[in-house]
Amino acid sequence: MNTQTRKATAIAFPNIALIKYWGNRDQSLRLPSNDSLSFNLGDLRTTTTVEFDPLLTRDEVSIDGHKVNAQAYERVVHHLDRIADIDCGERRGLSECRSKARVMSNNTFPMGVGIASSASGFAALTIAACAALGLKKSEPELSSLARLGSGSACRSVPGGFVAWHDGYATSIATQSHWPLMDVIAIVASRHKTVGSTEGHALADSSPFQAARLADAPRRLSLCEQAIANCDFPLLAEVIEQDALMMHSVIMTSQPSVIYWVPATLSVIDAVRDLRDSGVPVAFTIDAGPNVHCICEAHAVKQVKQAVRQIEGVTDVIESGVGGPACVIPHS
Ligand code: PMV
Repeated sequence: MNTQTRKATAIAFPNIALIKYWGNRDQSLRLPSNDSLSFNLGDLRTTTTVEFDPLLTRDEVSIDGHKVNAQAYERVVHHLDRIADIDCGERRGLSECRSKARVMSNNTFPMGVGIASSASGFAALTIAACAALGLKKSEPELSSLARLGSGSACRSVPGGFVAWHDGYATSIATQSHWPLMDVIAIVASRHKTVGSTEGHALADSSPFQAARLADAPRRLSLCEQAIANCDFPLLAEVIEQDALMMHSVIMTSQPSVIYWVPATLSVIDAVRDLRDSGVPVAFTIDAGPNVHCICEAHAVKQVKQAVRQIEGVTDVIESGVGGPACVIPHS
């Protein structure tokens, strides 16, 4: 019996979508109904260690030092099984032959405030598990694997500005191409949230989803153009329209979901006032009430100052553009 542990650690950054992914054409493979575009949030980081240990009798999964709930546990274990199945297939032609694993994940950003950790979490988990098993995978292969854990995780594998076309994501511009910032206005919410997996499944029940999808290639191409030319006015117009289209679908799905709270709208208002006065800032909103204020680096101070004063904003978190996910050496 092999008693050797196999261990690796990887880091990954969450990402903020400028053109949103909402709805799947294949729910179980998490193949998206539309292509999307994001940038990695390099100042927020997930570090995940995976250690396959033949002496363990059960997988152990902790996030920020706490055992995860049953649903999160199953999702992580299922992902490890799927990666280990590749290993078994490649090495021995067997399945279900992996050792149990110890998975320890830590985030530098607070959990439960609505910053999705599933993207960076599944990107780091995929890369650490493959490295621990000695699987040599290309970036597109790692991105495809990460996608099976959480759709948007495929965009946290490559670095900088990233486009996800169907199966996997690739970088379209480097981290240093355009020093944009994301100033995230965290707003208090008493609402029960509907997770994105459930949300994707509801997308087609909105009569607006077909129109959103039909127009998605136009928005994606405008956003790519805005990034290539560092054209902020064009970026502002297209990302706000894209976010509002996604929320129109969410609000008109059956059952309807409204992620916004009054402070969400107050931040939207403030962002538009700032832009009218010449500040390069625009909003986007994920599946939650928080508002991501995307701005040029020189405008950060002004944006933060304005957003902090808004009633209902409980915290402000900022991040610049980040690089790719990668394995880090053990000290
Ligand atoms: O990857 P998921 O299933 O958490 O879905 C992400 C959905 C949005 O964050 C709302 C949009 C996106 O493209 O990231």
